[in-house]
Amino acid sequence: MNKPRVQSGGDSNYIFAPYHLEYPHHLFDTSLILCADCFEWLRRVPEGVFHAVVTDPPYGVKEYDPDQLEKRANGNGGVWRIPPSFDGHERAPLPRFTAFNPDEKARIRRYFSEWAGLVLKALRPGGHILIASNALLSQIVFTAISDAGFEFRGQLIRLVRTLRGGDRPKNAESEFPDVCTMPRGCYEPWGIFRKPLLAGMTVSECLREFQTGGLRRKPDGNPFEDVIESERTPQAERKIANHPSLKPQSFLRQVVYAALPLGEGIVLDPFMGSGSTIAAAEATGYHAIGIERHAEYYTMSLAVIPELAQVTTRETQLSFSLV
Ligand SMILES: C[S@@+](CC[C@H](N)C(=O)[O-])C[C@H]1O[C@@H](n2cnc3c(N)ncnc32)[C@H](O)[C@@H]1O
Repeated sequence: MNKPRVQSGGDSNYIFAPYHLEYPHHLFDTSLILCADCFEWLRRVPEGVFHAVVTDPPYGVKEYDPDQLEKRANGNGGVWRIPPSFDGHERAPLPRFTAFNPDEKARIRRYFSEWAGLVLKALRPGGHILIASNALLSQIVFTAISDAGFEFRGQLIRLVRTLRGGDRPKNAESEFPDVCTMPRGCYEPWGIFRKPLLAGMTVSECLREFQTGGLRRKPDGNPFEDVIESERTPQAERKIANHPSLKPQSFLRQVVYAALPLGEGIVLDPFMGSGSTIAAAEATGYHAIGIERHAEYYTMSLAVIPELAQVTTRETQLSFSLV
């Protein structure tokens, strides 16, 4: 296989200068992070500049509304609920996506439709979006993104036992011991989308002109595959980043790596949370930009990103790290 091209972090200041736009920001070795609302920021960036988006958005939108985050912090319910304890272990609050009403679902559709329209402008032709979702909401989110003008290129299935579902009917567990109300979740769907290539352009022409259009093969030369055997985020990473939706480095590094077909360009995460995607980009030697609206998570990410980037994973040993 070709030796991966490594980007040097030394030119980051120059590369990222057009994107600070006077928001609070910080430069790491190969990445820039900003504290901003991504909708507002995306409206202000130049058109056709980014090569890929890898992101884990607020799945149901509502759960990251400031009032819901406050309720979560106060243990006050809202959309964040503590699921029944499992094997005697108390579980962390999870958003209850089953409880969404038609108005809330319509809001999700509008939100992702507007977001995808802005991303469509900001990406180069042939640029990919890899976006995390949830088995109960993905059909709404993926339709909104396709309708905004992206090609749907299938789903990436992250195999992970989420502990969602699988419960017996509430308050009638002993009456219906052989029933579960919904399947126990064993995967997380990620949508794969591509901004259409220019009319008449082939993938090879797009790669030459925009460094986009395809996905990067794995370091061993095999194609990127749409099922990845993953894991729940390890305790060691949870200790570094106390964010309710933290994703594991072992998985994110593989996705980020695939997002730039030539290993060149800028990966954008408009919903970076504590910065796990940005840490994966740093570990991979890619340039990346992360945006987070919530000041507390942005501040957390300043310490988290360098630490997560240093984490050793099984995949790192299989050489997903280029540094
Ligand atoms: C699902 S979490 C991502 C967590 C991330 N994967 C991590 O490992 O920390 C989504 C994040 O998007 C942020 N967010 C929500 N709306 C936003 C917006 N309009 N602009 C920027 N960030 C936003 C939330 O505060 C939340 O931290």
